[in-house]
Order: sequence, then structure tokens, then C-alpha cells
Amino acid sequence: MKILVLGSGGREHTFAWKIEQSPLCDKLFVAPGNSGTSEIATNININVTDFEAIKKSVLEHHIEMVIVGPEDPLVQGVHDFFLADPDLKNVAVIGPQKAAAELEGSKEFAKEFMIRHQIPTAAYQSFTPDNVEEGYQFLETLKPPYVLKADGLAAGKGVLILNDLEEAKAELKSMLIDAKFGNASSKVVIEEFLDGIELSCFVLTDGTNYKVLPTAKDYKRIGEGDTGLNTGGMGAVSPVPFATQNFLDKIENRIVKPTVEGLKKDKLPYVGFIFIGLIKVGNDPKVIEYNVRMGDPETEAVLPRLKTDLVEVFNAMAKGTLDNISIEIDDRAATTVMLVSGGYPEAYEKGKVITGLELVEDSIVFHAGAKTDNKTVVTNGGRVMAITSYGNTYKEAIKKSYQSIEKLSFDKMYYRKDIGFDL
Ligand code: AMP
Ligand code: GLY
Repeated sequence: MKILVLGSGGREHTFAWKIEQSPLCDKLFVAPGNSGTSEIATNININVTDFEAIKKSVLEHHIEMVIVGPEDPLVQGVHDFFLADPDLKNVAVIGPQKAAAELEGSKEFAKEFMIRHQIPTAAYQSFTPDNVEEGYQFLETLKPPYVLKADGLAAGKGVLILNDLEEAKAELKSMLIDAKFGNASSKVVIEEFLDGIELSCFVLTDGTNYKVLPTAKDYKRIGEGDTGLNTGGMGAVSPVPFATQNFLDKIENRIVKPTVEGLKKDKLPYVGFIFIGLIKVGNDPKVIEYNVRMGDPETEAVLPRLKTDLVEVFNAMAKGTLDNISIEIDDRAATTVMLVSGGYPEAYEKGKVITGLELVEDSIVFHAGAKTDNKTVVTNGGRVMAITSYGNTYKEAIKKSYQSIEKLSFDKMYYRKDIGFDL
């Protein structure tokens, strides 16, 4: 089978790494890919939202399955584009159609979905520029901290958590009236603050059947001790040690099942990953957000623990026979640590030569913002590489990742030295 992965991050290198191990995969393409994917697959230099260019490549290379890494093409309807085109409609696409991708594309849509299907989440109300005054009044009824969320996609920056009421009102105005996040904040969801520890749960579904993948916890802040600016994610640990079987059962019964059943009831076709951001409040899970894709860097810790052939799983998802698959998970823990460019998530430089890659033996290096320049691997983004290791415990795994990192370097390389500190 000829397979195309869309995307260029550590998540997509991990998908490529796993797919490439499958005897069912004859030829693998990644678009646009990075230096890591170019070692195991053929990179195609096209943009993930350029559907016409994707079509051309799919036809030219006789691609039979497309795995969509990031959310943008899904929210813009790449799956629907394939279904509507007579030349593409038989290509399997792993990723939900546009209507269901709204679970990530619109916070209000996601909240309404959860309320409709009695899925536990924070209480909320949503506001537009027309009723901003009501928004101020609603804030006055809440206790701090105040949680404001831009409704649309805002590259992970659209959530503000504020301690001061006046500041919260000012930010609400800035989002709604001054378009702080552009069109994404033309609607704002204000919700109850949930106090607890976060974790993520990953689900595969064919629209009817589902399989739950291992949990993971990611570390979103740039600074140690979870301080400083938000990033795409600085590291991840899987499984999450505090997620006991009893807690996992609650997640499955109260959240995963009603989510998959709700998609079906609402006639939202879904073949793909559901990434559920959760918070443990007391002993109960509540949903913070849905994403319609895998997490990055969570993928770099979760997929290496999957023993089952991923292409077999994708085939079953595309055919609606996921119930026939048994998912086998490696008992070992896996952890990943992101190496980032100095300055990230603000301004940073690119093109720095990365040395020591050939010296890493005990970890898997997943490339992210890295490219090959004259046979040399150089930095090409904020998050540069994810260093994944296995261990009998997450502590053992994390130690291995840090030992491997000692061998790697590039100018202004930065990473958090405390991944897993709170577990
Ligand atoms: P989101 O983009 O919805 O995942 O929100 C980004 C981050 O904001 C989450 O990972 C949480 O740390 C935090 N957050 C979002 N919603 C809430 C909430 N209702 N209560 C507390 N923290 C929240
Ligand atoms: N690491 C968080 C995300 O992928 O959204």
C-alpha cells in the first residue's frame, strides 16, 4: 500500500517511523515532512492546506491512504474534498470530516456537544461583540481565576486565564471588539475554572467502534516548574502514573463512550483520532478540550508504545471494522523531551547545525523543526527534535532521554530539565 502522511512535525515523523515498520506499507510519502522523515520516506514539498497540490501528488504516486497530522487541513475540510472528488473518493483518509472537526475548530461547538451528550466539562457561556456587556456581567458572577477562550483556532494561544476581574473584562473587550486573535475571537467562551491536574486521552474511532490508546501528560510551558509562556509542548510522559484503572474506567464510561455515541447520533462522520484534554478534579475527569488529531509531543511518547501494526489499525478504521482489531501496548513507559531553539516560543533563529545525532543509541530521535541542508541537519523551527526513550518506569525513561540529549547540540539549544517533575 502507498501511504501519505500530511504534516512536518515530530508527530508526523513518529507516524512515519511507525508506518514504515509495517509490511503493509510499500511506499511512504510525507508532505512536506522534515529531515527525519526524509530518511525513511519520500518528502513531497507541498503545503498541508493546498488541496489541489495534494490531489496531484496522490494521483501521481497512486497513494491509497492519507493520514492527516495537523488540525488545519481537517478543519478546512480535506476529508470532504477527497469524498467529493471522483478521482479521490476511494482513497482512505484518516481524520474526521469538516463538520466533526468543529470539535476542535470551535470551542462553542465542542461545549454544546458535551452539554448535549452529558459529558462532564466546565460550565460556560459564550459571547459575541453584540452582547459584550452581558459578558462583563457574567464575569462579575464568577470567582477568579477567569477563563476566556477564543472560539476558533488560534494556534494554541487562544486561552487566557486571568486573576483580576478588571483585566478579564479588558481582555474580553480586546478579544471581541479589537479582534485580538483575529476572526478566531469574534466569539468568546467564558468558562468556570477547573482546579486539578491535567492529562490527555487518545481514542481511535471508525465512527462506531473505538479503541483507547495510552494516556499521556504533556508539559506546555516553556519554563521549568510549569512557568512562562505556553508552547506547543515541551515533553510528554506515557502512561500517566496517577491514572489508575478506576480513573481510566471513569474516562471511558463517562467521556469516551458518550463522545463516540454522540458523534454518531449527531451524524458527524468520524474516522480518526480523538485527543481529549482532561483535568482530574478530585477523583473525577472533566473535559477541557477536544482535538481532532494526535497531540505533539504526546504522539512521540504514545505511538512508540503501540505494538500493533498501525497500518492494520488504519485499514480497519477506514473499513469500519475497528472492533476486529486488538490493540497491544508495550508495558514500558515512554517519555519524550523537546529540544527547542533559544527564544522559542517568541522570536528565534533558524539554520543552526545539529551535531551528535549519530551518537544517540538509547533513545529515538524524532525530528520536528529540522531540515537537511547539504546533507547536514539544521534547525528549521521552534521545536526542533523530540528525544524519546523507554524505561521500566517513567523516571528511568526520562533519565535515558536526558543522557541522550547530552550528546546533542546546536547553537542556543534549550530544553526543560524537569519533564515529569510533578508526577
Ligand atoms: P485549551 O486550549 O482549551 O486546552 O486550554 C489551554 C490550557 O488552558 C489548558 O491546557 C489548561 O491548562 C487551561 N484551561 C483551559 N480551560 C480551563 C478551565 N476551565 N479551567 C482551568 N484551566 C483551563
Ligand atoms: N501538545 C498539545 C497539542 O498537541 O495540542
